[in-house]
Order: sequence, then structure tokens, then C-alpha cells
Amino acid sequence: MAKEINSIGVLSSGGDAPGMNAAIRAVVRAGNHYGKKVFGIYEGYQGMIENQILELNARSVKGILNRGGTILKSSRSEEFKTKEGRKKAYDNIISRGIDALVLIGGNGTFTGGMYFSEEYDIPVLGLPGTIDNDLSGTDFTIGFDTACNVVTDCVDKIRDTAESHNRLFFVEVMGRDSGFIGLRAGLASGALDVVLPEEEQPMEDLFQELERGASNNKTNRIILVSEGNKMGSIYEIAEAVKERYPQWESKITILGHLQRGGSPTCTDRVISSRLGVAAVEALIEGRHGEAIGIVNNQLKFTPFEEAIRSKAKIDMELNRILKILAT
Ligand code: F6P
Repeated sequence: MAKEINSIGVLSSGGDAPGMNAAIRAVVRAGNHYGKKVFGIYEGYQGMIENQILELNARSVKGILNRGGTILKSSRSEEFKTKEGRKKAYDNIISRGIDALVLIGGNGTFTGGMYFSEEYDIPVLGLPGTIDNDLSGTDFTIGFDTACNVVTDCVDKIRDTAESHNRLFFVEVMGRDSGFIGLRAGLASGALDVVLPEEEQPMEDLFQELERGASNNKTNRIILVSEGNKMGSIYEIAEAVKERYPQWESKITILGHLQRGGSPTCTDRVISSRLGVAAVEALIEGRHGEAIGIVNNQLKFTPFEEAIRSKAKIDMELNRILKILAT
């Protein structure tokens, strides 16, 4: 029989993502709904090591459903990667009577959670929280939809000025080493091309796309450059284009951390709320050591090891469609 859980700790870790607050709210309110105490662990794993832990209730999470960032703050803890760090963290949560954990974050967060649950007898579940969408076992991670909407909105604005000056724009988008944001926002914003980390795209291909755009009298050619791509930095790419086509005026925009902020979209709020409630209910049922995602609109549980090992793949069909439409 599953060990009874009385008290749940929740933390956010790694890069923050819009919707994390909605997930925290859901864990707290669902926990209280089932008669459990819920503790917020501040600043991710580092806060667990430093005992930054406070009990939360329904009122402590009021007014956060629509807020970006994470009220629990986040960090990337080097100390938690050590056995000694994890021992300190364990001692702290035990001293508070916490007997289960919900972790909201990405790959690094799940890796920490996996080690922790292997070393200590504490049920741990993970919720996929990263704008990158690079986690397997879920169609969409918390924050991805909002980030794509932010990028789409920014590119829409860039197009206004690009069009007015007949300029070429290179826009760098986040994703560490995955092209999910670039591809989805690229399609949604009518980019001429997207330079993706998943592709060995020769520079000549990009030249061809640019020429195709020019010969079709396209007056606002926007290229999305995903960070971590294999072609080169946005500056190198823009320089190579400038050398080849000195007659074209071009500009560079790096969207950067703008993409991580803002009020979560309806989709992100719904995903986060569903996942937060699912985490509490799954802990009560005795599940542990898994990441919870949503695939084809159904909850899916993936063991941490598998979630960490198998990387989510971008849908290259979207790239084919983008290219057909970018004429
Ligand atoms: O993982 C989310 C992410 O925003 C990536 O897209 C990006 O590469 C990275 O985090 C940036 O990390 P930091 O905020 O630590 O600079």
C-alpha cells in the first residue's frame, strides 16, 4: 500500500517559465483540497539546501494565476549536484515534516529529482516547466505557448518596421539547443526561414531562401535564428549574408529573456492547472519518480530516467509548411 502523504513540498527550478505560478497555485490548492499541508521551497534546490521553506495556503497563492515568473523563485544549484548538498536538503525537508515533492522545471530539475528519489525514500514527481519544450513525455511544456506568443508578437512588430524600410531582419530566439520556439513562432509569424539547431543547414540554403524572397518582391524578409544552431552565431550569419549581398540592408534583434516573461496564455494556465492537480492526486495514489505530461490531451507519466534520456523532437513537417508559405 502507498505510504500516506501528509505534507507536500513544491519548488521551481532552472529557467523560469510563464505558467509556473499557475502550477504552484494548483499544487497548493489541490493539496489543501485533499487535506494535505503544502510547503513552498524557495529558490529551487538551493533553497532546499538553505532551508528556505514556508507553508503556503490557498490565500498565499491568490492573484498569481496570471503572473509570469515564479513566486517561489528559481535557481540552478551546483551544490545539489553533490551528495552532501542533497543530504542537507533532505535533512531540511524532513525537519519540516515534508514527505513528498513536486518539482517544476526542465531536464536538470528532473535529473536532480531522480538522484534525490533514488537516494532517499521520498516520493517525487516532476512537472515540465521550461519555455524550450525540449522534454519528452509531453506535447507542450509549461511556458512554451506563452514564449511562442511573445516571439510571434515581437516578430509582428519587427515586420512593421522591416516593411517600412525594405529591410532584412535576423531575429534570435531562445531554446538552448532545440528549435521548438523558432519553428512554431517562425510559422506563426510568417518568417522567411528558420535556422534550427536540429539541422545541418548549409549557408547556401539560406542564401537561396533570401534570393527566392527577393525575386518574389518580398519586402520584409525575416529570418529566425534559434540559439544553439549549427550555422553560426546570429552575427556570423548576418555578416555572411552582408558579404554576399552588400546591396541588402539588414538588422539584428536578439529577443533574449523577453521571451521568458509575461502573463501566461490561456493554454499555459490550463496545462499548468491540470498538471498541478494531477501531481497531487498521483502522489496520493502512490506514484513517484515520474514526470507528468499531457500527450494527446491525456495525462502521461514518464519515469524520470526516460524523460531525461529521450529528447523531444521538433516536427519538421512544420518547417516544410513554413517554406511552402514563405514565398
Ligand atoms: O531553458 C530555458 C532557457 O531560457 C533557454 O532557452 C536559454 O538557453 C537558457 O534558459 C538561458 O538561461 P539563463 O537564464 O540562465 O541565461
